[in-house]
Formats: sequence, structure tokens, C-alpha cells
Amino acid sequence: MITSFCALFFLGLSSLATAANFTQVFEWPNGMDYEWPSEASRTQALNDGAFKPENIQARFMAVYGTRIFLSLENYDGIPASLVTFMTSSASFASPPKLNPFPSRGMQGKGFCNKIEQTKGMDVDSVGRLWVLDDGSENCNAKLWTIDLSNNDHTKLIHRFSFRFYMHDLVLDETPNGTFAYILRWGERNIIVFRLEGNESWIVQTPGSGVYSIALSPKSKEEPRKLYLGKWDSDELYSISVTALRKETRIANPKLIGKWNARPYKMLIDNHGTMYAAFWEKNYINSWNTSQPFEEQRFYEDAGLNTYWPFNFAFDQNGTLWMTVFDKTRKPKYRLLKTAVDARSFKASPE
Ligand SMILES: *[C@@H]1O[C@H](CO)[C@@H](O)[C@H](O)[C@H]1NC(C)=O
Ligand SMILES: *[C@@H]1O[C@H](CO)[C@@H](O)[C@H](O)[C@H]1NC(C)=O
Ligand SMILES: *[C@@H]1O[C@H](CO)[C@@H](O)[C@H](O)[C@H]1NC(C)=O
Ligand SMILES: *[C@@H]1O[C@H](CO)[C@@H](O)[C@H](O)[C@H]1NC(C)=O
Ligand SMILES: *[C@@H]1O[C@H](CO)[C@@H](O)[C@H](O)[C@H]1NC(C)=O
Repeated sequence: MITSFCALFFLGLSSLATAANFTQVFEWPNGMDYEWPSEASRTQALNDGAFKPENIQARFMAVYGTRIFLSLENYDGIPASLVTFMTSSASFASPPKLNPFPSRGMQGKGFCNKIEQTKGMDVDSVGRLWVLDDGSENCNAKLWTIDLSNNDHTKLIHRFSFRFYMHDLVLDETPNGTFAYILRWGERNIIVFRLEGNESWIVQTPGSGVYSIALSPKSKEEPRKLYLGKWDSDELYSISVTALRKETRIANPKLIGKWNARPYKMLIDNHGTMYAAFWEKNYINSWNTSQPFEEQRFYEDAGLNTYWPFNFAFDQNGTLWMTVFDKTRKPKYRLLKTAVDARSFKASPE
């Protein structure tokens, strides 16, 4: 009894020493809510089932200046899947409401010229928010850019020839053009989109299906690497982006290491540290990609018991923002931030 207590105590200490210190910005004790045109419209949406507040679950995130963007899971009773709020506007006591972005009218399932179901997002070096849209029964998947530094000018930049299972994307800005590498969950391939030319193609990645994706920072020494997490295993793979940019049709991912669990989200900062969150795990681990694969505890939240607990993104100044979802306890949602002293690589165009 005493020995096991000591062991736990020391384990606890060592994880405290390596874990990052986050500051809480907001908490939503009972969960998040939209900003409604009127209380009556909210009541009506609740009554007719168009709005089910308990189904609000954040899946992807992007940050630009003082604006946070969230992509909400495709559940029943979620009238808008792309939402925003300001980190500066509300007080701790009244956490911000979610505003459909760029507007309520620009969103709607079944409308091929609207944002139907938001998936992964990323902000490029000129302040455009890239939004992956899953499509619907009626419309193929598509890709939008919303110019955050220019009145949120919204542009449909590509329609794919398929729909559904879109998951996450990363952006690769090169002198030869801007590429988006896109994953559909469980697929044995990567979709490459090139902005100039408005073209997309599929690169086969033999092996088991992919799920999470992250891109290494720009470096003078070596080409950027695309890291791939698997749908059905803990294995981490990488491929060089050189081949992807050249319209190759097949790329063989190289095994890099094995996480302790299956990641659903991976992200790399400007210094090459990778962060990974895992299904049903109450922690985030990191790995310095300049070194052989080795996991370190980056953040841990005792007692958290949620399927998809964390959602995180860097802003342009190297602050890591994170939402924490607690399915069983209050507060249900929290927004935290920490400066990891790492400028997001997107801040510096080549
Ligand atoms: C977090 O804060 C604790 C206590 O102030 C400190 O000992 C630790 O070094 C900090 N960790 C980091 C990564 O800054
Ligand atoms: C980054 O820092 C600069 C200067 O401190 C500030 O003006 C800017 O608003 C910050 N940007 C973000 C995205 O926080
Ligand atoms: C790009 O191509 C798609 C068809 O795949 C088209 O719908 C879209 O309008 C094009 N976008 C631009 C900016 O040309
Ligand atoms: C740009 O494209 C040209 C022609 O395809 C190629 O020779 C060159 O290596 C590319 N440059 C980069 C940085 O990818
Ligand atoms: C990652 O590893 C490299 C090479 O050992 C080292 O130079 C760098 O400082 C490490 N980065 C961090 C954030 O510890």
C-alpha cells in the first residue's frame, strides 16, 4: 500500500515537471451554445429539434489573432458546423457564444454552394482560413478559403469528385505553389490539392488506412516530412513531401515509431516538436522530431474520460490554444492556452 502510494507520488511529480503550464481563458460549465438572433429563435430550434445543445462537440480548431474557429462534429441538431468566437470579447464569468462563420446564411446541409459539414482547418501565411467540407448526400466534398485579413471574403476553391470521410488537412506553401495534403479516414491514400491550377490528385500509400496527419516545419537542411497516424494501429509513419508535390501517384510511408495509443490529432510546432492526442486518453504526448522517436507527457488532465477530449491549434505567435471537453463533469468545456515558445511555421513564408 505504502510503496504503491510512493510510486504514484513520484510518477506524478515527474509528469508535473515535464508537463506544460496552461492558463485557462474561458470555461463553459454546461457546454457551449450558439449566438441566436433572438431568444425566441433559440426556443423554437430547441422545440423542433433543429438544435440539440448536448450534441455540440468541437473536433478541429484554428486560431487567427483574437479569433478562435471551431469545427463541430456532424451530429443531429447542429445547425452550423463552422463557428467562431473572440478570445477578447467575453469575461470569464460569461463565456463566449458560438457564431456561425462566415455567417448563418453561408451554411446549410444539402446546399452545394454553402458550407455543409466542416472538417479539418488551417490558416495559411497570408491569413486565409482553409476549410475542408465533407459535402452531403447531394453534393461532393469541397475546399473553401476564407480571407480573415480581408473582410472574411469566402471562396469555394475546389470541388472533389467524391464525398464524405474527409478528415484533416495540412498546408504546404512553396515557391512553386500552395499544396494541401488531405486525409480521408481509413483510406490508403492522401489527396493532394494544388491551389494554382485548381487541381487535385490521389497518392496511394500502401499499408493500413490513415487517420491523423502533421507536417514538419520548413528547414534548410531537409525536405518537409508528412507524418501519418494510422486508423487501426499506434504506428507513426512519414513520407517526404517532395514526391507529393511532383504528382507522383504512389508513396511508401516509412515506419518511424509506435505511440502508446492511437492518435486522432497530431500537430507540429516551428521547432519540430510533435504533439499528439489519442482516442479516450486524458493526456497529450510530445516528441522532438529531431531525435529518435520517444514520447514525453506534455499535458495531462486527471479524471478526464472522453472519447475525443482535446482539440488544439497554434496562433501566429506560437501560443498553443486548446479546448478540453469533459463529457461527465463540469465544466464541460474549457479553453486553455500556453506559450510553447514556438512560432508557428506558417508565420514565415519561404
Ligand atoms: C510549470 O510550472 C511549475 C510550477 O511553477 C514549474 O515547476 C515547471 O517548471 C513549469 N513547467 C514548464 C514546462 O514551464
Ligand atoms: C502577435 O503579437 C503581435 C505583437 O506582439 C501582436 O500585434 C499580434 O496581434 C499577435 N498576433 C496574434 C495572432 O496573437
Ligand atoms: C476549381 O474547380 C472547381 C471544380 O473542381 C470549381 O467548382 C471551382 O469553381 C474552381 N475554383 C476556382 C477558384 O477556379
Ligand atoms: C518547382 O518546380 C520545378 C518544375 O517542376 C522544379 O524543377 C523545382 O524543383 C520546383 N521547386 C521546388 C522548390 O519544389
Ligand atoms: C530537439 O532535439 C534537437 C537535437 O537534439 C535539439 O537541438 C533541440 O533543442 C530539441 N528541441 C527541444 C524543443 O527540446
